[in-house]
Amino acid sequence: MLLTINGAAREVALSDDTSLLDALRGDLGLMATRFGCGAESCGACMVLVDGKPSYACTTPIDALRGKAVTTLEGLGDAARPHPLQQAFLDEQAGQCGYCLSGILISAKALLDRTSTPTRDDIVQALDKHLCRCGAHARIIRAVQRAAARMSTSSAT
Ligand code: FES
Ligand code: FES
Repeated sequence: MLLTINGAAREVALSDDTSLLDALRGDLGLMATRFGCGAESCGACMVLVDGKPSYACTTPIDALRGKAVTTLEGLGDAARPHPLQQAFLDEQAGQCGYCLSGILISAKALLDRTSTPTRDDIVQALDKHLCRCGAHARIIRAVQRAAARMSTSSAT
């Protein structure tokens, strides 16, 4: 079947009940999306489906016909980082980094909804994500930094 991933049509020859996470990592070579729990309990596998944060570990590819999936690879890369990615680097917002791809995805959805999130908005948007390194304070600062940078650059 055909999936739309990061704006490109990708053909996968997998059974319909294959999880999106397995398709991304096992078939399409998109390794940024991570496996944590496999049960919607950690947020490591978060991707955007039509702009909405969704768990790739429990989403079957059959549910994605006609929908657009965005993974962390679709946000930016080392040469052209998304402002969120740059802010996370600037704040050194992470230790092992395992949780960060999912967190960046939910933060992107938040900033797409509101350019001026409050601290509570950020905490609520990231509530589904576990960070076992306890980097939460830096992660929140990084999202605030990205929001400030993005609203400054859109005002100029
Ligand atoms: S791996 Fe999907 S929520 Fe943990
Ligand atoms: S930085 Fe290690 S789990 Fe979050």
